[in-house]
Amino acid sequence: MALDNLREFIKAIDGIGELVRVAHPVRARLEIAEIADRVMKSPGGGAALLFDQVLLEDGRRSPQPVAINLFGSMRRMCLALGVRNLDEIGGRISAMLNLKVPEGLFGKLAMLPKLAEIGKFPPRMKSGRAPCQEVVQRDAEVDLGSIPFLTTWPGDGGRYITLPLVITTDPASGVRNVGMYRVQVLDRNSLAMHWQRHKVGAGHWREMAARGERMPVVIALGGDPASMYSGSAPLPPTIDEFLFAGFLRGEPVGLAKALTSDLAVPAQAELVLEGYIDPAEPLVLEGPFGDHTGFYSLADYYPRVHVTAITSRRDPIYPATLVGRPPMEDFYLGHATERIFLPLLRLTVPEIVDYHMPAPGIFHNLVFVSIDKQYPGQAYKVMNALWGQGLMSLAKVLVIVDKEVNVRDPDEAWWIALNNIDPERDVRFSMGPMDVLDHSSRAFTYGSKMGIDATRKWKEEGFDREWPELIRMDEETKKRVDEMWDRLGIDLAGGR
Ligand SMILES: Cc1cc2nc3c(=O)[nH]c(=O)nc-3n(C[C@H](O)[C@H](O)[C@H](O)COP(=O)(O)O)c2cc1C
Repeated sequence: MALDNLREFIKAIDGIGELVRVAHPVRARLEIAEIADRVMKSPGGGAALLFDQVLLEDGRRSPQPVAINLFGSMRRMCLALGVRNLDEIGGRISAMLNLKVPEGLFGKLAMLPKLAEIGKFPPRMKSGRAPCQEVVQRDAEVDLGSIPFLTTWPGDGGRYITLPLVITTDPASGVRNVGMYRVQVLDRNSLAMHWQRHKVGAGHWREMAARGERMPVVIALGGDPASMYSGSAPLPPTIDEFLFAGFLRGEPVGLAKALTSDLAVPAQAELVLEGYIDPAEPLVLEGPFGDHTGFYSLADYYPRVHVTAITSRRDPIYPATLVGRPPMEDFYLGHATERIFLPLLRLTVPEIVDYHMPAPGIFHNLVFVSIDKQYPGQAYKVMNALWGQGLMSLAKVLVIVDKEVNVRDPDEAWWIALNNIDPERDVRFSMGPMDVLDHSSRAFTYGSKMGIDATRKWKEEGFDREWPELIRMDEETKKRVDEMWDRLGIDLAGGR
């Protein structure tokens, strides 16, 4: 049975011994972030934290506890998605694709939109009042002041919603999008929406603005953990994240009608902010914000969301995350995406054996890719293909290695890559869109990329020297040493 909501997830985390309840009073301003940072930096990602006594900016005690770092370990990420190993989901997707996808690249590409066939468990609209609508503040009653939104770093422009599901609809196709975009609290009833220009929600907004229509927006907090994760997944715009969450859960996600718009809200959420963006209004300054790059993102202009209703459970738990210098909780969310999307990447770039985005590379800065090289120049073919795929197009540095390299071990990947390259010959620069958070590119969201071909070079690639073999001990010697090991008195863990 899939976990249905945040409280079940927290209970399950407690059940595996990875929850710490903090009864000591702590401030939503900076203190929770400092505590969470220390915990997230501990080996394996640290425990999930539930703060019972949170002090708001004005000194009042928050009526709501704050949960943070819920997804911040491999075990909890697996728990969230109901698997023992994140590759299980990729395996399910591969099996489905093998069964249903026709042979040949064009056939495969044609099938991509039909991956919505993943939708065996479409979201289910529930009638009546949803759990997330037990308590309702509407219009003039709306007051964002009593929710324990965090200020996470001293230079931040204000209080932030850091783990939201932002729900919008494509006005042309009617397809829903659920995106995890941070939201700044501006005052008692308005917010600044930081959806970056490459993201689906921002596309919906551009379309609504072109039409001059008011855009309804829902910001949901909590819900089932598969839905929460799905908000961070780079699905194509044609796929509703709640449909994908249904696939992950093996059960539909329950939705309910929002009270002040036609959008749907996740019925099991803890808190929901309903609102709209008026395209006739000027943009507002959002930020600065201590970001997952480890640097502050500069303030910039984003749309204002007017909150028309706050709905919640009677006793909501406020979920948050902290981003900053890696590693942080978002590494585990991104890592789940890496694993789940491998078969989808392989659909169009079948020579990819594996890939990995190590934590210090913050996803878009560095991607190691291992390939089954069958012809000269294939590393460059893979680079070009990846720079043409969805959010992978934002990748700044791609390092391509041969299939036997374990790219999930960055030490191994760098060791082989640096041995294998003649930098002038094997490094290529390209141009393209850059992540909004890249502060070094020559222009905002536009700049250069570097591809490193660290595969073994072939004669046809102009390499006419002999390529050496990797050093490996022979199996017979290893076996003999294994047999005598216990008698040697050497403790590898202890050093002596
Ligand atoms: C903790 C966290 C915070 C994020 N914050 C933002 C953000 O503020 N703006 C943004 O555009 N993307 C943000 N992202 C990345 C998006 O969630 C991600 O790119 C996702 O694929 C977007 O959904 P979309 O493809 O439906 O647009 C964040 C991801 C995580 C895990």
